[in-house]
Parts: sequence; C-alpha cells; structure tokens
Amino acid sequence: MNHFEYRDGVLCAEGVSLATIADDIGTPFYCYSSATLRRHARVFMDAFKGQPARLCYSVKANSNLAVIATLAAEGAGADVVSEGELRRAMAAGIAPSQIVFSGVGKTAQEMAYALEVGIDQFNVESEPELELLAELAAARGLVAKIAIRVNPDVDAKTHEKIATGKAENKFGISWKHAPAVYARAAELKSIAAIGIDVHIGSQLTSLDPFEAAFKRVAGMVTALRAEGHKISHIDLGGGLGIPYRGDNDIPPHPDEYAALVKRTMGHLGCDLTFEPGRLLVGNAGVLVSRVIYVKEGDNRTFLIIDAAMNDLIRPTLYDAFHEIKTIAEPADQTRFTYDVVGPVCETGDFIAKGRELTKLKAGDLVAIMSAGAYGAVQASTYNTRPLVPEILVHGDNYAVIRARPDYAEILKQDKIPDWLKR
Ligand code: LLP
Repeated sequence: MNHFEYRDGVLCAEGVSLATIADDIGTPFYCYSSATLRRHARVFMDAFKGQPARLCYSVKANSNLAVIATLAAEGAGADVVSEGELRRAMAAGIAPSQIVFSGVGKTAQEMAYALEVGIDQFNVESEPELELLAELAAARGLVAKIAIRVNPDVDAKTHEKIATGKAENKFGISWKHAPAVYARAAELKSIAAIGIDVHIGSQLTSLDPFEAAFKRVAGMVTALRAEGHKISHIDLGGGLGIPYRGDNDIPPHPDEYAALVKRTMGHLGCDLTFEPGRLLVGNAGVLVSRVIYVKEGDNRTFLIIDAAMNDLIRPTLYDAFHEIKTIAEPADQTRFTYDVVGPVCETGDFIAKGRELTKLKAGDLVAIMSAGAYGAVQASTYNTRPLVPEILVHGDNYAVIRARPDYAEILKQDKIPDWLKR
C-alpha cells in the first residue's frame, strides 16, 4: 500500500498535488511519501513481533538523509556499504551501535573509520578482508565484531545482475569454506566472530530461494557451534521483492517471510538482523516527468519525456517494469501504445516500451511509479543533465530534500588546467 492517490482528479502524494510540486520546482523530480516510508517500516517490524529481530535499513536503496531520518525515527538502524553511506547514516541520526557494514571491497581507510566511530558489526566477505580488519582493530586496541557473509550457492531466481548468492557471484565466502575462516577468526584476538550473514539477491518474488539459503545457514550455525564457535547473531540480509505491476504480481508479504524465518531459525535462539532496502522505500517514491513531445515514428509513437535513463536507469539496466500514471486523472480510458523515452542520446534511454497509456500530449505530466528504491541513488549527470532533485511529502506539506543543481554549480566542478587557459 502507498499514499499516491488521485484526489479531485489529480495524483497526489498524501495531501500534496504532484502537479503543484511540478509547477513549483519544475520537472523531473523524485517525490517520496513519509507516511508510506513509515508504514513499510512498521509492517516489516510488526511481522517480526515476538522474534529477537532488528531492522537495519539498506541505505543504498535510497540514501537521502531525510529518507534515512524518516526510517530512523521508526527505530531503524542501517546497513551500509561504504564510508559515504556510513557518514550518511550517522548524519541522519542513526547510532553507530545500530550500523552494520557490508560489501566485498571495504578499504583500510573505510574500516578504520568504521572502527573508530564504533559501528556494531562488520559483515566480512573474504579472508584478506578478515586479516586486514584484524590488523586495523589490533592497532587501535579494539575488538571488531564480525559476521561472516556466506555464499550459500542458491539461485535467487531474480534478474542476473542483482542475484548475489550463487557460487559464481563475487559475494560472500563459499559456505563450504566458511568453517575454515571461522577457525582462522578464532585465532585473531582483535576479532569476535559472533555471527553469520547471508544475502542472496534483490527483488525476490518467491520464498523458496530464501528457504534454501536460510536452511543452509541454520545448519551451519549448528555445525559451527559444535566446533566451539559462539554464534549468537544471524544477519539475513534484504531482498524481499515489491509489487511493481499493481495487484498483478504481489510478492510474499513480510508476515509470510517472518514465518519462514521463525520456522528455519527460531530454534537457534539467535539475535536477528534484517537489511531490507527496496521493501521500505520502493513504493514510497515516484519520478514525476513532463511530456516534451509526442513523436510519430513509422511504426511507433514515442512519448518523449524530460526524465531519462540518467535519472532512472532501472528499465534499461535490469529490464525493469515501472508503472506509469498520468498526473491528471484520465477522463477517457481509451489506450494508446507508446514507447516512453527520454532526451538522452542512446537507444537504451527508455522508461517503458510498448506501454498502453491514455492519450497524452506535450506538457502533460506523468508519474513513474515505484521509483523510490534504486532510482535517485543511481542517477547520474550523463548528457550534462542536472542531477534530479528529491522531494519529501509529509501530510499536506512538502520539502525539497535535494535541490536541483544550477548549471553554474555543475560547470564549476570541472577545472581547466593552466596550460589550456586562454
Ligand atoms: N543487503 C545487502 C548486502 C545488499 O547487497 C542489498 C542490495 C540489500 C541488503 C538490500 O536489498 P533489497 O532489500 O533492497 O532487495 N540496483 C538494483 C538492486 C541492487 C541491490 C543491491 N544489494 C535494482 O535497482 O534493482
């Protein structure tokens, strides 16, 4: 459920008309709903009532400080994958004790910073990382709490670019080899291997791959304990999918996911961490754009809008489907087929192909739905298009939470060296 609905013929985010925001700040822009963000966090946490679970929001999905702060106010911690994300999480008010640090390529500088601010847990993804972290912690007289991220060799049955749990993926340590790494960790005085971690991919629409991975992890916990390792924490990552096609593809509800967790993990008595990203923010955001031209091709009609692949790369990168709604509620439901494209000079610049929409003309506004996750964070300035701004709605109010840069700011970032000055 989300809070984007037609009111008096106009698509609104909570109590604010998206047309009004478009008039105020121009297009394109991302718009997020606070009520939807809060609701998603609550639904997730309610699903785990009675289980020792905590939510560490995966900041990569949408790292705007205001979005993180909204979720932090609901009690969320953070899952971060870089020093930049760690700094964002803290700047948004999340205590280091509620932050876990994932990622295959943590640098010495990043880990040193994370140790110094006192994050809760490192999710270690390789042996060289373990050795480096041990050295950095020892040099500071600290003990780093870690979970080892295991690669369970499970097919997540999602798009290949966002599947992370197969043996051929770069993520985690093979579940077969992990016991040897726990044995090594036990020798390192500056390391406390208190947990195990798994994340097999994103936008999972079936519980089966989760079940296969969770069973493997549960079996490992039992085996590791038998070898004397004190495993008290399990981090089950994120990955639960969201509906992108309205009511036509509803992935498992968090309640079903939580029941699976209880069934597969409950007997172990471990503290649980979850790292959902998309589930919390995906359907809490839309990308609003204006039609520039309607162009008739030989055998297609192109709806050329002012949002492009640099603003939302998901359709071209992952063949992702995003529902498109007109901001003005259509009076006539007759459908026309459009290729919805942006101004960027690449054939890969599209938002939707062969999409049936009601009639649109230049100047009309559209909302690209379910764009709150992996939208703005993956935006670029390709074609020297200003980075797309972000808006947060709260009831009848809205705030610009990232402004559109002006061209002077953009050009100022480049420097012409002395030898080229004339
Ligand atoms: N934890 C780890 C270690 C992750 O790598 C990820 C996502 C998450 C949690 C959160 O997963 P979620 O709950 O959001 O599925 N850009 C792609 C998705 C990339 C996901 C990367 N890792 C997309 O737009 O579909």
